[in-house]
Amino acid sequence: MTLLRTPPVFSFSFAVVTLLVLSILLGQAPTRIQARKPHAINFRYPNLYPEGITWDSSAQHFIVGSLRARTLVSVSDAGVAETLIFDPDLPENVTVGGLTIDTVNNRVLAAVHAFSPLPKFDALVAYDLRTRRRVFLSLLPSSSTGGGEARPIANDVAVDFKGNAYVTNSIGNYIWKVNDRGEASIFSESPTFTAHPVDGSLPNSFCGLNGIVYVSKGYLLVVQSNTGKMFKVREEDGAARLVLLNEDMPLADGIVVRGDGVVLVNSVKKVWVLKSQDSWGEGVVYDKIDLEEERYATTLTVGNGDRVYVVYGHVLEGFKGNSSREIFGIEEVRSEKENREEGVWIFVLVGLGLAYFLFWRFQMPRLITNVDKKTS
Ligand SMILES: *[C@@H]1O[C@H](CO)[C@@H](O)[C@H](O)[C@H]1NC(C)=O
Ligand SMILES: *[C@@H]1O[C@H](CO)[C@@H](O)[C@H](O)[C@H]1NC(C)=O
Repeated sequence: MTLLRTPPVFSFSFAVVTLLVLSILLGQAPTRIQARKPHAINFRYPNLYPEGITWDSSAQHFIVGSLRARTLVSVSDAGVAETLIFDPDLPENVTVGGLTIDTVNNRVLAAVHAFSPLPKFDALVAYDLRTRRRVFLSLLPSSSTGGGEARPIANDVAVDFKGNAYVTNSIGNYIWKVNDRGEASIFSESPTFTAHPVDGSLPNSFCGLNGIVYVSKGYLLVVQSNTGKMFKVREEDGAARLVLLNEDMPLADGIVVRGDGVVLVNSVKKVWVLKSQDSWGEGVVYDKIDLEEERYATTLTVGNGDRVYVVYGHVLEGFKGNSSREIFGIEEVRSEKENREEGVWIFVLVGLGLAYFLFWRFQMPRLITNVDKKTS
């Protein structure tokens, strides 16, 4: 018993454990280090013009929406596209915007908006993923404090672990909440959302709050297109704070959080990769990835293996009245900087492993001698 507590033996078992852990890590190393091309999916679905995207991990496929088709389409890793839901009860030509999966209730949630000149319509709709039946269609109320408020735009949606959904209004700069029974209310109308100057010369300066994501520790992150700002919003009461960043993200659209806590935000031009050490009191833009602007990426999602994908939906072209496009894309975005540092991280571990191995190799005979001496 006492033997086990003497320092050399302790170091020895520690080294063995480290070597074990290391061999597991090294087993994965080749696939991590390998320079892999980003995963690109092209799928055929005439006139779809998808704006929203989400990943259904239980069915192992993406789900995308449509600019006008009132349709949700599943897209496999291999690019097989199938109609998942067509809902003729939605008004004709409405846009299915943000999408998310409520894993607790096994539903897909979609923010729906009718662009002018269609009659005003903003809703959150929920479909059961197993039966593919609609669970609710909830109209989103206008703010009572907003007075003669301009027509809202229900844009993106996030969901917490209780099935509550949060929907951004890009015009009114507030957030709705819709619980799992479909009851809608206004959740956050923080003055912080309108405290920053808007550059009216930007092409989409009308568009305020946009992408939204739920972070597991009881708060949401939301980005604002016309200021390039990001806000942290408390789930409990909707209180909001500006997230301090080293740069703005002009025309930010979608936002996701990866399993490792890294946040990615996109515009049509690029993806910003962000990290934070303090649960998003402040954060840094750590890397930027260029996108193919003419393919008009609107948002992103986290797919298999924590990989992040943008949807290339050509929405602007569709918006201008074109209906003849048949092929759309879903493409992985990868931070080269992150990958390089991941490689370095592996080599540091290898070096560490070697040091432990040498220690073990040369200490071992002495240890055994020591142990022999003590036991005899
Ligand atoms: C929906 O769009 C189609 C094709 O652009 C058009 O023919 C139709 O009139 C539109 N319906 C409504 C209600 O605007
Ligand atoms: C409409 O889409 C088709 C197919 O993608 C493309 O070839 C054509 O140039 C587009 N037309 C306009 C006016 O954008």
